[in-house]
Amino acid sequence: MTTSKPATNTDPNALGRVTFLDGQGDLPMLEISTPWSTAEIYLLGAHVTQFKKKDEPPLLFLSQCSRFNEGHPIRGGIPVIFPWFGQREGLGQHGFARVKSWDLKEVLPAPDGSVSVRFRLPDCPEAAAFPPFTADYVVTVNQSLTLQLIVTNQSKDAEFTFENCLHTYFEVADATAISIHGLKGVSYLDKVASFLEKTETSDALRVASEVDRIFLNTAGTVEILDPRIGRRIRVEKQSSASTVVWNPWIAKSRQMSDFGDEEYEHMICVESGNVASNSISLPPGGISTLTVKLSSETLK
Ligand code: BG6
Repeated sequence: MTTSKPATNTDPNALGRVTFLDGQGDLPMLEISTPWSTAEIYLLGAHVTQFKKKDEPPLLFLSQCSRFNEGHPIRGGIPVIFPWFGQREGLGQHGFARVKSWDLKEVLPAPDGSVSVRFRLPDCPEAAAFPPFTADYVVTVNQSLTLQLIVTNQSKDAEFTFENCLHTYFEVADATAISIHGLKGVSYLDKVASFLEKTETSDALRVASEVDRIFLNTAGTVEILDPRIGRRIRVEKQSSASTVVWNPWIAKSRQMSDFGDEEYEHMICVESGNVASNSISLPPGGISTLTVKLSSETLK
């Protein structure tokens, strides 16, 4: 691991700090503190489990029932979904990146108080089914939370085709009171209707039953308005053609052993990536960088 030169700011409160801790299940984690915010990241899955601005409730939902065990995904926060999304025959759901312990490669505190950390997915037997590649994940914490998943195809002659998705769980006061904006007119695969292709007709998507929609060919910003918390959450993205919106609702919540029966009331997943027909085919030597910026403001 390399650590950049310490920032030269003389006010210690204006500098970002990184503390290494044993988190839940004794798993190694990083606690990041900046003048504006705090964040927690587990090496397991390079999983951001929390981001909180000083004057706001937590931005991310984390299940009280989550497992914190090697080899199992954490329920909540931001699972890194790669190199495939959804089911893949015989291989489990949502890829292997979220269940591997990533290597911490760099901690970069900036003079303005921001902190960036960079992780790398270690080599693992599952990766042998793909052309040689590297996957780096850079998390930057300041007034907002910026996530970058950088995949490089290291093959000299083979294309690398994969899906990626930052499966973000947001904390909301009441899922039935929120509205999700920015998807009107976008085509989606409705997973609760056997992947039927539909078009979103509303500019204010609401949750009143199980929602599991893969929106395709959409690069635009999505906003979540939460009138009960009094907050607007903004999801801005680059090199992401898909947005997935998911709330498991009542029956599915009961089926998930690592999710509370009533927790669906307090979360919504708005996931940014490239999935299904938006999967990425990288030529030999090619680099793909998925960038997602999460920010929030108080509703007046
Ligand atoms: C969403 C999928 O992205 O993830 C849902 O669209 C799925 O179908 C959900 O249920 C959670 O998946 P998992 O594997 O974390 O339980």
